[in-house]
Amino acid sequence: MHLKEVFGQDVIRKRIEEMAKDISSDFQDKPLVTVCVLKGAFIFYADLVRSMSIDPEMDFVRMSSYGDQTSSSGKVIFSKDMEIPIKGKHVLIVEDIVDTGRSVSYLRRVLEARGPQSISVCALIDKHERREVDVKVDYAGFALQRGFIVGYGLDYAEKYRNLPGVFEIVPD
Ligand code: PRP
Repeated sequence: MHLKEVFGQDVIRKRIEEMAKDISSDFQDKPLVTVCVLKGAFIFYADLVRSMSIDPEMDFVRMSSYGDQTSSSGKVIFSKDMEIPIKGKHVLIVEDIVDTGRSVSYLRRVLEARGPQSISVCALIDKHERREVDVKVDYAGFALQRGFIVGYGLDYAEKYRNLPGVFEIVPD
């Protein structure tokens, strides 16, 4: 197998600046809590929040759905909860990728029960090929039809998260 670049570092940086601008303008003077979905979103999140001109609260959750496989096990486990109360606040879920949609829809359901004023979803990559749950991605960096991708936070068996761009794993 080899890695084929899908989105390079500069393209990602520019797109994130645009997304951060949109988010900052939409949540100007509103109490916003941004939620990073670990592990995959950690690099995107760090770049996104540093490009924002607003000062949101920041929190982290951890779910697990894939294990070390390239296909979904179909299960979502919520293993690390938020620490900041969200009642009456606006919440922005930050994901690296929305694939089947299961993780985001699960997280939305859990957070909705806590009485936030709104919940929005931001994902660097909105991937359509395997979508099972109809989720709305309010802020999507890039739309992608298919491909197993790694880098910029995304892993294959816990590797490649540190690649500066997004790459597709292509069989030789
Ligand atoms: C990936 C990704 C999303 C989720 C998207 O996480 O970071 O959270 O899968 O897939 P879905 O739309 O099909 O639910 P993963 O479970 O691989 O964990 P990781 O972020 O720790 O790598």
